[in-house]
Order: sequence, then structure tokens, then C-alpha cells
Amino acid sequence: MRVLITQSIDPGGLALLEAAGLELTLREGEEAISREALLARVAGCEGLLCMPTDTIDAEVMDAGPLRVVSGHAVGVDNIDLEAARERGVIVTNTPGVLTEATADLTLALLLACARRVLEGDALIRAGGFKAWRPTMLRGMDLYGARLGIVGMGRIGSAVASRAQVFGMEVVHHSRSGGISLSELLETADVVSLHCPLTPATRHLMGEPELRTMKSTALLINTARGAIVDEPVLARALSEGWIAGAGIDVFEHEPAVHPDLLAAPNAVLLPHLGSATWRARRRMAELAARNLIEALADREPTHRVA
Ligand code: GLV
Repeated sequence: MRVLITQSIDPGGLALLEAAGLELTLREGEEAISREALLARVAGCEGLLCMPTDTIDAEVMDAGPLRVVSGHAVGVDNIDLEAARERGVIVTNTPGVLTEATADLTLALLLACARRVLEGDALIRAGGFKAWRPTMLRGMDLYGARLGIVGMGRIGSAVASRAQVFGMEVVHHSRSGGISLSELLETADVVSLHCPLTPATRHLMGEPELRTMKSTALLINTARGAIVDEPVLARALSEGWIAGAGIDVFEHEPAVHPDLLAAPNAVLLPHLGSATWRARRRMAELAARNLIEALADREPTHRVA
């Protein structure tokens, strides 16, 4: 049985697929697979191991014809689950194994924004560190600050535990409870997004929401870019509706909206949430195991459709 893998993955995952006797079509190279290449290469494949930036819709499923789509990610907003259900295509994901790494990166962004880490680094490199000055590059105290978590699943909860260690007061808004989104936005010193991207959360953070936040507050997004209206966020940063943003995910990756690139007070990362050696190995292995199980007509460990 043939399987297409749309990016180089950790060798641990490849070894499992090879040991299972699957024939692998591997895509090498740094760029995301183009639509044309995806459609051409998936032809004849029963399995697809894909990345969160690959759009997997009915056309791709029919080009296979695919039986299994194994997402190398926890988020499955890039996969048309309805089309998969209609065709009996099994869809799987990799939850759990990336929780701690993504929570760590959220704190890295939070600290970088709160304590102006990039500005300090840039100042030194530009020869601007002339004296230690009590008024230089002052930032936000995390101790005693209020963190508002939007989406209290695995990653949101892991961020909450870390923030509590820093002495932050943690509140949340999620489907299962917490405070209202408007109260969270009005009162939080830091708003961190951890909900999945769904029709209900697309552009959840638009102009009214960003204007509701405190002008001293920070927005952190390690979930999905499209939860935030990017041009509006850029205006919020340049016009001072909020104080800063730490953004790891973008609506049209790998493109980053030019207004956001030009925005002051933003720390931008290339979707590094789960980018640790261990998390990426475990994601590759889990995505491989899900694929192997489903192709062998066994119930995969993490099935979403
Ligand atoms: C990465 O973005 C993931 O959803 O795992």
C-alpha cells in the first residue's frame, strides 16, 4: 500500500511506516507542497500523512483514492472532516504528545513580549547599550498579572500551570465554563489563545474584541492564525489599542500579513509551538501508528473522523 508524506518527518515515524511494509512517497525540500504536486502525488495512495498547512479537501481525497488521512498535528482545521465522513475516509491526529512543548513556547512568547527580550537584543546589536539606566526597556511584571486563557483544553491547562508558578492569576473562557469572553478581555493583562479553529472561532479576535482589551495588555497566539483578524491586530498594535503580541501562527502560512510584519511590539515565530526534538519525534511516531492501524482496518488510537 502506498502512502504520501508531505514533508520530511522525524526518522522514528518513517521507521515505523517502513517496518509496516508501506511504500512511501516522500516529499523532500523546505517549501510546503504545492496544490498541483499534492494532487499529482496523492494519486494511487491509500494513505496520506499531512501537515497542518496542507489543505486536504474532497478533491485531494478523490485523487487518491484515500482511505486514511493522518494529520501530523493536533489541529485538524485543514482537513475537510465532512468530506472525509461522506467518503468513509478515516482522519486521525496527534494530541497529547505536543502539549508541554506548545505550552513552553507560549510562555517563551509571553516572557519575550512582557520583558521586551527582542528589543533588548536589538538594542545591544545596534550598539545602543550605553549605560545601565533605571528607565530602560521596562516591561510587564508577570507576578500578580492576570492571564486570560481562551480555550481550556490540554494546552490551555498546561499554560495555566506554568503561569501559576510565575504567580499569575489565571482565568479562562471555554466551551465548558469559565468567565465570559468579554469579562476576560476587559480584565486580563495577557490574553492567550488555545481554542481550536472552527467556524465559531474564526476571527474571534476582531476589532471589537481587540478594542475591549486593556491598552497595556498582550495577546499571545500559539493556536491558529485565523482565530485572529491579522490586519486588525496590526492596527491594534500600531494604534496602541493593546501593548504587544506574541504570534506563532498565521492565517495563510507560510505568508505573514505585511501589516503584521511592520507592526511594532510584535514577536513573530514560524509556527514553532511543537518544535522540540521529543515532541516532533512523538508526533511523527503517533501519526505513523495512526496511519498503520487505520490502513490495517484496526481502530486508530486518535481518530477524529
Ligand atoms: C500544530 O499546529 C498542531 O496543531 O499540532
